[in-house]
Amino acid sequence: MCGIVATIGLGPAIPVLLDGLRRLEYRGYDSAGLAVVDGGQLTLHRQVGRVRELARQVPGTLPGHVGIAHTRWATHGKVTQANAHPHVDADRRIAVVHNGIIENMGVLKARLQASGVVFRSETDSEILVHLISRYYAGEDGVPAGDPLAAVRAALRVVRGTWGIAVLFADEPDMIIAARNGSPLVVGLGDGQTYLASDPHALIAYTRRVVFLEDGDVARIDARGVQTFQLDGGLVDSVIETMDEVWGDEDSGDYPHLMLKEIYEQPEALERCLSGRIVPAGGTAKLGGLDMAPKDLAKLSRVGLLGCGTAFHACQVGVQLIEQLARVPAKAEIASEFRHRNPLVDPDALFFALSQSGETADTLGAVREIQVKGGTVMGIVNVVGSSIARSCGRGVYIHSGPEMAVASTKAFSNMISALAVFTLMLARQRTLSAYDGRLYVEQLLAVPDLVRRYLENPGPIDTLVEWVKDAGLVLFLGRGLSAPVAAEGALKLMEVAYVPCIAYPSGEMKHGPIALLETGSPVIVIAPRDELRDKTLSNLQECKARGARVAIIHTEGDDIAQHADLSIAVPETSPFFSPLLTVLPLQLLAYRTGLALGCDIDRPRNLAKSVTVE
Ligand code: M6R
Repeated sequence: MCGIVATIGLGPAIPVLLDGLRRLEYRGYDSAGLAVVDGGQLTLHRQVGRVRELARQVPGTLPGHVGIAHTRWATHGKVTQANAHPHVDADRRIAVVHNGIIENMGVLKARLQASGVVFRSETDSEILVHLISRYYAGEDGVPAGDPLAAVRAALRVVRGTWGIAVLFADEPDMIIAARNGSPLVVGLGDGQTYLASDPHALIAYTRRVVFLEDGDVARIDARGVQTFQLDGGLVDSVIETMDEVWGDEDSGDYPHLMLKEIYEQPEALERCLSGRIVPAGGTAKLGGLDMAPKDLAKLSRVGLLGCGTAFHACQVGVQLIEQLARVPAKAEIASEFRHRNPLVDPDALFFALSQSGETADTLGAVREIQVKGGTVMGIVNVVGSSIARSCGRGVYIHSGPEMAVASTKAFSNMISALAVFTLMLARQRTLSAYDGRLYVEQLLAVPDLVRRYLENPGPIDTLVEWVKDAGLVLFLGRGLSAPVAAEGALKLMEVAYVPCIAYPSGEMKHGPIALLETGSPVIVIAPRDELRDKTLSNLQECKARGARVAIIHTEGDDIAQHADLSIAVPETSPFFSPLLTVLPLQLLAYRTGLALGCDIDRPRNLAKSVTVE
């Protein structure tokens, strides 16, 4: 996580740094800081809290045409000013901002302390600035006074992941940057060059960018960038143009980004489906996959990987793929998959699902598949993100900017992209044109059903009263509703800090039922599908233990009479029910967070993009 921004050139640095930090704040908002060099002096400002707190502290007129800045999500060390970046060396001549983790921190810190270095923070990142300072002074035969050589030497002794920007008071005409596992992109302007961990931080300044690759070390000046391998020569810098550019984070007429994004779902779904459905043939096409029908026909299995909400979308996807296309499919949490030395079948197709396209564990899973000779494609929202670029092929879900930390419209669009893929695959296998056309008709109707539900969402506020002070909320669902239950629990935990657990309904009696007491709130997701009656039995079991049960069900279904509270969603094909049943759960999380006075768009301890493992 964490965001880096830096600039060098003709214009003043401070406005660019503060503006860039504001755009990157979704990556972490524990603290923020910046350093600029002017007249041979390095000035440092750091502040706990949001970028606006830092902006209040920094004089707008602070001179300097070169600077680096950082917004932090704490990994090593508490949320304090001392732990905020940039970190500086003992003489305040060098400043470093760092994203990532230095894994051999213990041994390096002990070695530096033994040689007299005094650490002023608890962070792993501070190690970098002291190492660079030593090599800059000529230690170990590194040419003294050579910034590039000093950074390279330091990076040779650390182990872990990094995206860094380094500023030298004695070298105000350059910034040194390096990447290994933490993305960095250089923006090329007119007499001004920029660096950021996300291209969207640069949109106000330029669309011409150079993405650094793992192992790159770059020398950035006002004219542009020269990139080197850590242990090798010059690398060709490929200049790309950012086409799809998202604007500023703005909640428009809505009080919060999360609410805006929930209400954007109908249009987002339409964008995801647009141009991909072939109604006459009852099939679909996904150009980004670049797969011939014969490739689809010979797939042995499909693997879906993601984290958090994206993983829940994977769990929906595997059920669609197995039930409709009759191809074995498996969903797996990316952080587990990447470290378990998985078997990768060369005839399998893997998808990495990610809104941001930057999630470190999902990216790690992509690399693991690639190392083992497998095929992996992205199902990603952010165009040009690391996962999209690493996969090379895939499907953009076209949710539009999702800036609230709680993912909502990306969940729906991931499912909808998987529904389109399922249709393509199923038509290569078992699904008839007739059934394909029926599927298409129902899928295309979903955005309007979502719209209709959102106009009249039912008694959400009553449910808020049930859950807002609850010690525990239990979410239950079967089949396609089991991942929806998990998603509902995740949303309520992250936005309103209410303890929740989610279980497949049938599993409840094997343990979690012990938690139920008189009045315990239970939320059951039971749309009209072939599992409805079995879920109803589980609902009765909860009631028999005195629980208060709310049910999310299909409009007109008399299952409602068995619950203490009912919320109806419009009827759709059971295959697409998650796109409807998740909506009340998103609203429940939002309104509970509101009732409890939580910071809805920036929940505590979280970040939008989880770029550390
Ligand atoms: O950007 P990604 O989709 O890869 O993010 C994965 C998770 O970090 C994300 O879904 C997270 O769980 C959300 N905060 C959930 O609302």
